[in-house]
Amino acid sequence: IPVNLADYTPPVFQVETVELEFDLHPAATLVRSRLRLHRHAAGQLHLNGRKLKLREILLDGEPLGDNLYSLDPSGLTVFEVPDEFTLETLVEINPAENTELSGLYMSGSGFFTQCEPEGFRKITFFPDRPDVMARYRVRMSADAKRFPVLLSNGNKLAEGEEYGRHWAEWEDPHPKPSYLFALVAADLVAVKDEFTTRSGRHVDLGIWVERGDETRCGHAMASLKRAMLWDEDTFGLEYDLDVFNIAAVSDFNAGAMENKGLNIFNTAYVLASSATATDTDFQNVERVIAHEYFHNWTGDRVTCRDWFQLSLKEGLTVFRDQEYMADQFSAAVKRIADVRLLRATQFRDDAGPLAHPVRPASYLEINNFYTTTIYEKGAEVVRMYRTLMGREAFRHGMEIYIRDNDNSAATVEDFFNAMQAAVPEHNIWQIMRWYEQAGTPEVTAEETYDPASRSFTLTLRQTTKPTPGQDEKHPFLMPVAIGLLDAEGRDLLSETLLFHKAEQSFVFADIDQPAAVSLFRGFSAPIKLKGQSRERLAFLAAKDTDLFNRWDALQQYATAVLLEAVAAHQDGQVFRLDDGLLEAIAATLREAPRDPAFTAEALLLPAESLLADEMGVVDPDAIHAVREATRAALGEALRDRLNSTYWEYGKVDPADHSGPAMGARALKNATLAYLAASGDASRAWEQFNNTGNMTDRLAALTQLADLPGEKRDTALTSFYETWRNTPLVLDKWFSVQARANAADTLERVQALTRHEAFELRNPNRVRSLIGAFSANQAKFHNASGAGYRLLGDMVLRLDETNPQIAARLVSGLSSWRRFDTARQDLMRAELERILAREGLSSNTYEMASKALG
Ligand code: ARG
Ligand code: ZN
Repeated sequence: IPVNLADYTPPVFQVETVELEFDLHPAATLVRSRLRLHRHAAGQLHLNGRKLKLREILLDGEPLGDNLYSLDPSGLTVFEVPDEFTLETLVEINPAENTELSGLYMSGSGFFTQCEPEGFRKITFFPDRPDVMARYRVRMSADAKRFPVLLSNGNKLAEGEEYGRHWAEWEDPHPKPSYLFALVAADLVAVKDEFTTRSGRHVDLGIWVERGDETRCGHAMASLKRAMLWDEDTFGLEYDLDVFNIAAVSDFNAGAMENKGLNIFNTAYVLASSATATDTDFQNVERVIAHEYFHNWTGDRVTCRDWFQLSLKEGLTVFRDQEYMADQFSAAVKRIADVRLLRATQFRDDAGPLAHPVRPASYLEINNFYTTTIYEKGAEVVRMYRTLMGREAFRHGMEIYIRDNDNSAATVEDFFNAMQAAVPEHNIWQIMRWYEQAGTPEVTAEETYDPASRSFTLTLRQTTKPTPGQDEKHPFLMPVAIGLLDAEGRDLLSETLLFHKAEQSFVFADIDQPAAVSLFRGFSAPIKLKGQSRERLAFLAAKDTDLFNRWDALQQYATAVLLEAVAAHQDGQVFRLDDGLLEAIAATLREAPRDPAFTAEALLLPAESLLADEMGVVDPDAIHAVREATRAALGEALRDRLNSTYWEYGKVDPADHSGPAMGARALKNATLAYLAASGDASRAWEQFNNTGNMTDRLAALTQLADLPGEKRDTALTSFYETWRNTPLVLDKWFSVQARANAADTLERVQALTRHEAFELRNPNRVRSLIGAFSANQAKFHNASGAGYRLLGDMVLRLDETNPQIAARLVSGLSSWRRFDTARQDLMRAELERILAREGLSSNTYEMASKALG
C-alpha cells in the first residue's frame, strides 16, 4: 500500500521524554522503554514496531491486560489511554540476526544502530515518524570485555561496572525524532581532539574505530574541525553540545548518518592514508564528514515533518557540503565533478521509469527514495535559490529558516517561505515547481542581432518530457547566468536572466554583435541545453571566461563527434579521429600549467553512459569501440606531449593531499590513461611497481586491468596479497576488475562472485563488485544476457538478507527500453524473474515493478 503526501495527518500523540534501557546480548537484547506521551489530536494510540517480542507492557505503572491492546506485524495499538500517561514496554530483539542493517545490528566488534528512516521501530514500540520529537535518556549495559565502549547521543551522565558487565548512561538535551537515535557498544579505540566554538563552547571530539585503524583518522579529524569552523563563518551556525562523536562501522547500508552528537559512518568515509586511500577517497571523507556535521542544523535542529520532505534536509545539506568543498579546493573543478555526477545518474533516472520529483507524491518503501534526485537535484534547487536571490539574501533566508523552524519538523514550504521573506520585493513562487515536477527540462536558444538598433535578442524555449504519472509539465523558473563574448573571448556583458515561461525573449540594447553567447554558466540550472553548433562549442571550449562552460563546451563537442563516429561505425566505416577534437585536446594539454586539476577533468572524454543517453537505440558495443578508438588515437597522436606532461607532473610528494598535489596527480594519471589506451602500458607497469601512493597505484592498476596477460595477472595477484586484510582496499581490487575494459571482464566478475573474499553481507563489497559491474556499460550489456542474469541472481540472493541493498541494484535493469529488442527481452525477463519470487521484499518489488513499467 503506497504512502501519499496528500494523506498527511499530524501525530495523535506526542512524546515528551523517552527513557531507554538496553541489556545488550548479541542474540537476545532486552529493550525497556518508558515513554511520556500526551494527546495531540483525536484518534487511537498506535506505535510502530517490527520484529519485536513484547515481554511486558504497563500503562502508568500498571500491567496492561491482553484485551486492552493488540499486536500486528506493523506494531501495537492500545485501545484506551488517558490524554497524558506513561507507557512502559519491554521487548526482546535479535541484533545478531539482523542482516538488514537497519535498527540495532552487529558488525565487526560490536553493536551499532541505523535508524533513518524507519529503523527505530525495530528497536522498540514508538511513533516512528520524524514529526514526533522527544528528549532521550539512554542506559545500556554490556559485557565489559567484548564491548568496552558504550556510546549514545548527547552527553555521558554516568558509568559503572559490576560482575563483568558495564553500563553507561547518556542524555541528549535536544528534542529529536527517533530516526536520529544512535547507540554503539563495541571494541573500539578513539582518536580525540577538541574544538572551541566562536562563542566559547568547548567540544570534545572523538572518532571511534577498530584497533589498528587509529593511524588513518587524521584526515577525518582535520576535516571535521574545518567543517565546524566553516559553518560558523559561512552561516553563523555553531555546534550545540559538549561532545561530538563519530563511530566507524564496516557493514553499513549508506555512507554515513547524522545521529545527534553521535554520527555513525561507513569506514569508507572515515579511514584514509596515502598508502590505502586515493585522492578521491580523501575528498569523499572530507565531503561526507562535512555533510553529516552540517546536518546538525539542517536535519537535526530543523528536521523534516515527513519523509516526503527528505530533500529539505538532504538537498540543502548536499548544497552546503558542495559549497564547503568548493571553498577548500577549486570551485570550478568541484562544480564540474558535481555536474558530471548529476548528469550520469540523476539525468538518467529523470529520463526513465524511476523518475520522481524532488518531493515525491507517494512511495511504497521510503528507503528507495535516497536517490540522486532527492540529494543532488535537491541541491541544485537550493543553488538556484541562491543564484536567484544572491549570496547575501540567501544567507539571510537561511537565518530566517533556522530561526523560524528551530526544534521543529519542517516542510519544503517552510524553506520557501523563509527564502521568500528574505527577498520580499521578488516573487519566487514558481521555484516550487522544481519540487513537484520530475524530468529534466530541455532548453534551446535562438539569437538575432539588429545592427541598426545595435540590439541583440536571445530567445529561450523550454520543454520537459512526460514522466511516469506526469503527462503535462508547466514551465520552470530558472536562473540563466549568461555572458556575451567578443571574438577574443572577453565578456561584453554578463548577467543572470530569469527564465520562467515556455518561451521568452531577452533584448540587450546598445551592444556590439557578440561573437558567441555562453549560456547557463556554472550550470546555473539543472537542464539540458540543446542545439548548440559545433563551431560555437569549439569557440567556447577555447575561449569562455567561465571555466565550467569551457569544460562543458568541450564535453558537448566531444559528445557530438563521438556520436557521429558511432553512427559511422554502425555503418561499417573505418574510424577516423576528428581533427577538431584532436586540436581541442592538444590545446587543453598545452594549457595544463594554468590549472592542472581542471586540465585533468577536461581531458576526460564523456562517459559511455552519457553517449548512450543521447542515442535513440543504445548500441553499447559501438559506443565502447568508438570511445576506445578515440582514446587510442588521441594517445597516439599526442604521445610526446602526453609523455612530457606525465614527467612534469610526476614528482608529487605521495603524502601530500593538498589541492595542487591532487591536481597534479590527477593530470599525470589522465596522461597515463591515454598512453595506455594507445597500447603503451609500460609506464603503467612501472608506476604500479614503484609507488606507495594509492592514487597512483590504483590508476596504474586500472590501466593494467584493461589488458589481459601476464602483467595484469601479476599486478592483480600482488595487489591482492598486499591488501587482503584491508577491506576498503580489497574493495578497490574487486571494483577495478569489475570496471575493466578487458574482453574477459564478464567471466572474471562471474568468478569473483565465488571468490573467498566476496561477502554478500557487506554492502561495500557488494557495491564494489556488483554495483561497479552494472555500471560497466559495455560489459554489463553483454549481448548474451549473462550480465543481466548475474545481477538478477544477486538481487534475489540479497533480497533475503538485505532488501535495501538488493533494491538499489535493480536500477541497473531499469533502462531496458533504451536498448535493441534482443537486449530489451533479456532485461525484462530478469525483472520478471525477480518479481516472480515469492516473499519478495517491498523494497525490491517497488523498484522492479516500476522499472518494468
Ligand atoms: N541521512 C543520511 C545522510 O545522507 C543517509 C541515510 C541513508 N539511509 C538510507 N536508508 N539509505 O547523511
Ligand atoms: Zn545527508
